[in-house]
Amino acid sequence: MTNTHFFLFITILLHSFHTLTGADDFIRPVDRSLLGLHKEEKVSHFRVYWHDIVGGKHLSSVQVVPPTNKVNTTTIFGMIRMLDNPLTLRPSLKSKLVGRAQGFYASTGQTELDLLMAMNFAFVEGKYNGSSITIMGRNPIFNKTRELAVIGGSGLFRFARGYAQLKTYTKDINATDAIVEYNVYVIHY
Ligand SMILES: *[C@@H]1O[C@H](CO)[C@@H](O)[C@H](O)[C@H]1NC(C)=O
Ligand SMILES: *[C@@H]1O[C@H](CO)[C@@H](O)[C@H](O)[C@H]1NC(C)=O
Ligand SMILES: *[C@@H]1O[C@H](CO)[C@@H](O)[C@H](O)[C@H]1NC(C)=O
Ligand SMILES: *[C@@H]1O[C@H](CO)[C@@H](O)[C@H](O)[C@H]1NC(C)=O
Repeated sequence: MTNTHFFLFITILLHSFHTLTGADDFIRPVDRSLLGLHKEEKVSHFRVYWHDIVGGKHLSSVQVVPPTNKVNTTTIFGMIRMLDNPLTLRPSLKSKLVGRAQGFYASTGQTELDLLMAMNFAFVEGKYNGSSITIMGRNPIFNKTRELAVIGGSGLFRFARGYAQLKTYTKDINATDAIVEYNVYVIHY
């Protein structure tokens, strides 16, 4: 065997070894139709009411990290609340429960009250039961309308993307429970 032949032989041997062990095989292209991606994308709009129950016996959100006092204290900078908030069909908490918003929000503004929202909307109703969308974004809560991004989803919402528009529906001045209307626009398959 010449040197060149020997080199080729080794290369082929190594290559087949790789193929056998699948060492370079952990990422590979797949046919779109296997994942249902050959279908046309749908655009869905839905409206839900998000209940942040911060007072009373049946809390749905709880502060887990207190605000820092090292910077502007009026914007509760640094505060984090963990939430498992009911999502209902109508503004009333007694209306049909369609899902739950699970995640957290954190105060991230030093000059105005801005929240970083990070939530999964886990649906429990109809064919969407078990499917979820993931929402993340910036929420300057005193603005009339705010917009958050839909960055993904599961189940019927695989490959989802879109946005949610938020409007504060009402605020109980005493308990500070908030009801927020979410209009969500999602592109999915
Ligand atoms: C602190 O927050 C308040 C309320 O949003 C704001 O009016 C004020 O300018 C802030 N102060 C500083 C030093 O950023
Ligand atoms: C949603 O799915 C769960 C778990 O599969 C089931 O227990 C529940 O009854 C379903 N809810 C509705 C409203 O279909
Ligand atoms: C929030 O409202 C203020 C005042 O109305 C406006 O200047 C600002 O652009 C708004 N911010 C967002 C993110 O909508
Ligand atoms: C808020 O609290 C005040 C004083 O305790 C009370 O008079 C009022 O009825 C309360 N409002 C609501 C909506 O519960």
